[in-house]
Amino acid sequence: MVATSPNGHAARTMRLKLRIWRQPGRDAPGKMVSYEIGGVTPDMSFLEMLDVLNEELIRRGEEPVAFDSDCREGICGNCGLVINGRAHGPNPGTTVCQLHMRFYRDGDQITIEPWRARAFPIVKDLCVDRSAFDRVIAAGGYISAGVGGAPDGNSLPVPRAIAESAMDSAACIQCGACVAQCKNAAAHLFVGAKISHLSQLPQGAAERASRATGMVNQMDIEGFGSCSNEGECQAVCPKGIRLSNIARMVREYTRAALIGGP
Ligand code: SF4
Ligand code: FES
Repeated sequence: MVATSPNGHAARTMRLKLRIWRQPGRDAPGKMVSYEIGGVTPDMSFLEMLDVLNEELIRRGEEPVAFDSDCREGICGNCGLVINGRAHGPNPGTTVCQLHMRFYRDGDQITIEPWRARAFPIVKDLCVDRSAFDRVIAAGGYISAGVGGAPDGNSLPVPRAIAESAMDSAACIQCGACVAQCKNAAAHLFVGAKISHLSQLPQGAAERASRATGMVNQMDIEGFGSCSNEGECQAVCPKGIRLSNIARMVREYTRAALIGGP
């Protein structure tokens, strides 16, 4: 089929078969439900395709599919779907809100599931509760700074290589794809990124020990699993967070234990 795109050009449209996890509530049983959707254009985002499905479901008087999104620009970490078995879908370095339908073909079947991890209970359909990440952050993912005006940047020089490494770690958007893809539902890449970001900077030095101990312990309390050593987390991370962050987390935690940190 051909439709007119927003720029006035003729656009190919696709008809897709969707299999979507439907679950009315946290403790209710869920199941895969099949839908067919037409009129999908290559320049739609994956979430826009779901918007079109939901408009059709509402028109038919059916319950729309619940899924999370906010910025739809790949920066907030709110969206997250397992698409054909891969967290955030087939494109490396891409959040699901930035995935476009041009990567699919007419007639494709797409299976869409929520993040599956004990620490991320399902709220409804494709929405999960990721507040476990917030509690891990509250256990040490911050620095304590005195009130008052911002200090002169030149008073605290940071070598460029360290600043860039800390910035790479800070790119984590807290989406949870690393947990979703790990067969043990481990949160090591996320926690490693947060610990690495602050522990490399002079502003984060004072709380290095309590941060590593607090965040790793909270990660265990929340029910995340052990690292599988398979690197699936790095493979699906949309922000390129590297496994070296996990190595740094282990070093920080060990250091805290050796110096008798809290
Ligand atoms: S480490 Fe990557 S996959 Fe995990 S929460 Fe951060 S951005 Fe998402
Ligand atoms: S909706 Fe913000 S990163 Fe996808």
